Amino acid sequence: MTKENKTEFFTDWTYAPSPESTDHIKLNKQYDLFINGKFVKPNSKKYFSTINPATEEKLAEVALADEKDVDAAVNAAKNAYDKVWKKMPAAERGKYIFRIARLLQERAREFAVIESLNGGKPIRESRDVDVPLAANHFFYYAGWADKLEYAFPNKKPQSLGVAGQIIPWNFPLLMAAWKIAPALATGNTVVLKPAETTPLTALKLAELIRDSGLPDGVVNIVTGFGNTGAAIVNHPKVNKIAFTGSTDVGKIIQKSIAGTNKKVTLELGGKAANIIFDDAPIDQAVEGIINGIFFNQGHVCCAGSRLFVQENVADVVIAKLKQRLETLIVGNPLDKNTDIGAINSREQLQKINDYIKIGIDEGAEMYQSSCNIPAKGFFCKPTLFLHTSQSHRIVQEEIFGPVLAIQTFRTIEEVIEKANNIPYGLSAGVWTDKGSKIFNLTTKLRAGVVWANTYNKFDPASPFGGYKESGFGREGGLHGLMPYLQF
Ligand code: NAI
Ligand code: MG
Repeated sequence: MTKENKTEFFTDWTYAPSPESTDHIKLNKQYDLFINGKFVKPNSKKYFSTINPATEEKLAEVALADEKDVDAAVNAAKNAYDKVWKKMPAAERGKYIFRIARLLQERAREFAVIESLNGGKPIRESRDVDVPLAANHFFYYAGWADKLEYAFPNKKPQSLGVAGQIIPWNFPLLMAAWKIAPALATGNTVVLKPAETTPLTALKLAELIRDSGLPDGVVNIVTGFGNTGAAIVNHPKVNKIAFTGSTDVGKIIQKSIAGTNKKVTLELGGKAANIIFDDAPIDQAVEGIINGIFFNQGHVCCAGSRLFVQENVADVVIAKLKQRLETLIVGNPLDKNTDIGAINSREQLQKINDYIKIGIDEGAEMYQSSCNIPAKGFFCKPTLFLHTSQSHRIVQEEIFGPVLAIQTFRTIEEVIEKANNIPYGLSAGVWTDKGSKIFNLTTKLRAGVVWANTYNKFDPASPFGGYKESGFGREGGLHGLMPYLQF
């Protein structure tokens, strides 16, 4: 915080740097494709660089999988399915999944540091959220493996075969766990592709899976860009597609599998409404709004990127938000004090900056923290837009960055109407002292998850997924088993 921008609210205090050590991290110079239990060279002979978005330094070279590589991975998965995994007693399958969970816990620190190095998220989050939740996901689904007939009584659940799974860069390890754990528990085998900017924890997971003794070919991990993803989607031996990413690519996937008997789940974009009533506990709500949009740099499909404040408390809420914004620490993701780390890529930073410009051009009032951001790397100041309206693009479109669009409302009917008047429907938040208001809103908001007096809380037992252009199908919980089964 610069001296000039300091107001009387703030005392002059700063934290001493507290960087997490990287001494214990072993990264190879080059990573190959994980196919049939081994790391193999790509047919293309090509590699691409993966960087640290906080420093722009190269971390490693990663293999580029082409159609032939994807074909080899799918064949390995099909072979493992037919010869081993399908026939294995479910309780034995469960043991392997438990073992993956245990190994992940043992190596939690290493995974957390690599996640922050490659993705830019604060170490506090990768350490306290991403890695523990990923391990919990494996634990949770390990438990279901031999209980599918209890989950779906009188239905004879059967596995599908090979699951092709394509994941984004915002929660690289956690999304890999969300995809792999239920697929294995239901008796399917996997070909997974991490996002091009964040392949490293998935490749570390491949090493861990190899070390776990999981039979060869049950999980295959191939790296590459959109073409590699498309090769998985279009492969005739893939029986199910699970995708998390942009709505645009979700639509492409749906088109390309139309007319095939591939099953699909899509978890796409969002533009969640966080709604604050005048009877809400204001301080907790402000903390919840901050967590809702600035958590993970706003790279969260369920981020609370639209704020609706009841008019009579708007002044106090906005004043407190501005005050809190000033105290957020933006910078080195590996520092344990950091609240907002690096934006995942140059492209994403450009997209966010374009939207900030659009917001200003649309006439909304911008307010940014006066913090300094590092000169190198991809960083964005936490940003509020005041006086926005429903027709603004910054209110309607997914920005996927630390940018909050604020509107006020008077009545419940008005806020329900506004919150729902959007192409997305992944999540929402409600802050009020009244249980009746919460129940009223949860039945009327068209969103897959509605948090009440909290935000961005996850549990493997709880289903997650969208309405409208946020996608379909559920991940997590008992619901998350269904897309991997036929009855
Ligand atoms: P994207 O949807 O292009 O990438 C997600 C994954 O899909 C990556 O692994 C990518 O390689 C793969 N992919 C790309 N094109 C493909 C194709 N034609 N067939 C199969 N796989 C393909 O997302 P991108 O471009 O990284 O981000 C763009 C915007 O999407 C973001 O600004 C954000 O608004 C949104 N997004 C939403 C996410 C969510 O969790 N819902 C996650 C990531 C991005
Ligand atoms: Mg894309």
